[in-house]
Amino acid sequence: MRKFNGEAAKAVEAGKKIYHLNIGQPDIRTPAAFYDALKAFDQPVLAYAPSGGVPELLDAVRGYYARIGVTLERAQILPTTGGSEALQMTMATLLDDGDELLVPEPYYPNYHTSVTLAGATVHPITTSPEEGYRYAVRERVEAEITERTRAILISNPGNPTGAVLSADELKLMLDIAKEHDLFIICDEVYREFVYGGEPLMSALQFPGYEDNVIVIDSVSKRFSACGARVGMLISKNRDFMAQAMKWCQCRLCSATVDQVASAALYGLDPSYFDEVREEYKARRDTLMRCLKKIPGVVCQEPKGAFYVMAALPIDDADTFQHWLLSDFDDNGDTVMFACGEPFYSTPGMGKNEVRMAYTINCADLERSMEILAAAIERYNAAH
Ligand SMILES: Cc1ncc(COP(=O)(O)O)c(C=O)c1O
Repeated sequence: MRKFNGEAAKAVEAGKKIYHLNIGQPDIRTPAAFYDALKAFDQPVLAYAPSGGVPELLDAVRGYYARIGVTLERAQILPTTGGSEALQMTMATLLDDGDELLVPEPYYPNYHTSVTLAGATVHPITTSPEEGYRYAVRERVEAEITERTRAILISNPGNPTGAVLSADELKLMLDIAKEHDLFIICDEVYREFVYGGEPLMSALQFPGYEDNVIVIDSVSKRFSACGARVGMLISKNRDFMAQAMKWCQCRLCSATVDQVASAALYGLDPSYFDEVREEYKARRDTLMRCLKKIPGVVCQEPKGAFYVMAALPIDDADTFQHWLLSDFDDNGDTVMFACGEPFYSTPGMGKNEVRMAYTINCADLERSMEILAAAIERYNAAH
């Protein structure tokens, strides 16, 4: 996602304007409640927070989950430095050398990093745009479970696919995990961003799976507060939480001020999300309408999160992106995407795919798709 940043800087220096669809950095305003809490922070000493998180944040998160019918104790929540650290700690806690983690692909590339750092490997469940990236099929999931499988990791709603599990599909995944004595790590950082009308069910809302479920959560996308670096892992499995706490203690704590300010975010009324969701939905619709007009593009309408994965009628997305920055412009404008290959672990997959983030406004999305259409034509003529 950041690989082409050096080339992008050169393109900007050369006078080009770049439309950034490569990174999931929302442009929605961070709620004022965050900054108000920041300004009101006046402790005489900026001290370490407890390793298990500041009490205000733990209680605010408990309140947020209570609103969706989930009762949590403070000890079942561990605030982390972003969902990224929650992922790293989860992998470091669960996985040993040679273990396998089952993940539907395409998946968020950092999953691969945290699994690899823990000495384990990603075992993909391959999905395709033609099938709407569906994977919650018993035979299909069970066929990939081996002696070394320790856990299943799902992103729901999915980054990069936008796939959303129905309540039945999520329950099936939970059942499979439980029957095979596996952990199921549910990355729900995009929970509020679903566009089908029905709210997304959290894995924590299903009783009977307390020992299996680990939820990864974050303020980054939910509240447009990526720079706060506040995430968390949540689980009712006491052993897991006791081990994960050791990682929390060894890094002392996550940032005190950001945790305090994030507590204010969790206190927001749920109606806050209505407008944000509408905005993302309008962007998704705009992007899909424009993409459908470009000959040869294959993609599925995402049901959640704020990304579209699309196969483009080009040979190689990496070469295309390089060319877009160094050799192409449309009236001085060009575009950036995240190239598809790193979202897969099966060799050769995703070569002509890109992930587009609809975190820019509708007018800019329309312009980006005009540029893309012109670029595909010129690139294919030149190659
Ligand atoms: C699916 C998913 N999980 C976790 C993260 C981590 O985000 P953060 O560390 O900002 O909470 C991201 C960020 O893009 C993501 O897309």
